[in-house]
Amino acid sequence: MPSLQQIRTALDGSGQAHVLRFWPELGSEQQEEFLRELAQLDLPRLEEHCRAAAEAAAAASCAPDRDLEPNLEPVPPESMGSVRRSDPDCLAGWEREGFLQISRSRVAVLLLAGGQGTRLGVRYPKGMFDVGLPSGKTLYQIQAERILKIQQLAESRLGSKCTVPWYIMTSEFTLKPTQTFFQDNAHFGLQPSNIVMFEQRMIPAVTFDGKVILEGKGKIAMAPDGNGGLYQALEDNGVLEDMEARGVEFVHVYCVDNILVKMADPLFVGFCVAKGADCGAKVVEKAHPAEPVGVVCRVGGVPQVVEYSEIRPETARLRGSAGELVYSAGNICNHFFTRSFLQDVVETFKDQLKPHVALKKVPFVDSCGNQVKPSEPNGIKMEKFVFDVFPFSRRLVVLEVQREDEFSPLKNADGAPSDTPATARNALLAQHCRWAAAAGAALLDEQGNSIQMLPSSSAENHPALKYEISPLVSYFGEGLELLKGKTIRTPFILDGAAAAELQA
Ligand code: UTP
Repeated sequence: MPSLQQIRTALDGSGQAHVLRFWPELGSEQQEEFLRELAQLDLPRLEEHCRAAAEAAAAASCAPDRDLEPNLEPVPPESMGSVRRSDPDCLAGWEREGFLQISRSRVAVLLLAGGQGTRLGVRYPKGMFDVGLPSGKTLYQIQAERILKIQQLAESRLGSKCTVPWYIMTSEFTLKPTQTFFQDNAHFGLQPSNIVMFEQRMIPAVTFDGKVILEGKGKIAMAPDGNGGLYQALEDNGVLEDMEARGVEFVHVYCVDNILVKMADPLFVGFCVAKGADCGAKVVEKAHPAEPVGVVCRVGGVPQVVEYSEIRPETARLRGSAGELVYSAGNICNHFFTRSFLQDVVETFKDQLKPHVALKKVPFVDSCGNQVKPSEPNGIKMEKFVFDVFPFSRRLVVLEVQREDEFSPLKNADGAPSDTPATARNALLAQHCRWAAAAGAALLDEQGNSIQMLPSSSAENHPALKYEISPLVSYFGEGLELLKGKTIRTPFILDGAAAAELQA
């Protein structure tokens, strides 16, 4: 560990002497802790980081890239698949291929769970959030059970025991509570050795004039380096070596907050494998031209995600011959990578990833030592995005899926207009009601009234029908024959015990 003097010299040399401004006022314990934090900074690159952040923030306020539009094109049809439009035989073939790979233990899932969840506003990792389902399950538990179930489905289809390892990227904020939560819950029935948690790096938040922000007299305002910090974290923690040792060839990467995520989705994995892809993205059709989601497309022949703010409204409104939006492939942060592609990224491309600028309100101590909570953005956080590696792909394919079946992110606290605990809960319950109806069950509400479930019934139509199916019973609507002809009064949780009773 470098000495205080070495750190002081490095900070002075990079124009950051103010970081130690309050050092003499700190108690010995605080000094020790601060020193440990400072020692973890990438001091040789600090000056460059601060300058780049300030320059990028200044550039971000300029006009969008004019060269983008003439070079913009949608993903070509031969690289696309669609749950709604692709030939059913093709879909079945892709799913078979996915199950085959899973059954050979060649598929892993990788969870991005290093975010701070500031919009949701809880002080613990988002995966530990209970959205208010009848079962009280958290996002982590739902995901763990989906892994258990997909392993079981692959085993029963192909007759060989298999493992889907779960890699979980955390950050300084989320690692310890996540570890403790998993231990306290007996890893939700998974083998602890098949869950690999690792930590991404943290980087300092910077003022508009390129100074590291002090959050306290002995604390720098640090933030994780974005979900694209994944690639550095893979290297730092030897994750790819671990995957190789386990025989993992394909990785399904997803975000913690999508309650509907189909982990290790055999259809998606099989689609990507069958197409010979090194990278894959699941997308949903944009709800309307102005929807603020990134679009998977090509720029000058190179695949990438273009932010909605970078596309002119008239381009976003363009429609094809069947009336569909030309740029409709809404990114849902649900990706496929081959291990060998990840290896190339780590070895060759990762340092070319350009961080994105986020202007945030970062609490700080002023030069007199007063705590300030800014009301306007005062700080720059630099983040990389997981999809920033798409331009390095040799073959990127895109699978369009149904939003109501696969995408309902939890971003905001209740009361916000979208992406709240209530919308996530209702999306899941509505899906389970649709599955039950498709399996031939009649559902009654809490007063015993019969509910007509149309296949397309959405969360908005039935906001509170409390019918929940455990992932241990059904991964994606399959295996529900036991519901045929049954009338079920809600609230109802179809777990293993209830399933046994219904079958009795
Ligand atoms: P978001 O960008 O929505 O961030 O992350 P967030 O932390 O969940 O929420 P806010 O913006 O602070 O309100 C999308 C996904 O990327 C992960 C998150 O955990 C989430 O799964 N993520 C984000 C990381 O793993 N690391 C990061 O540095 C940032």
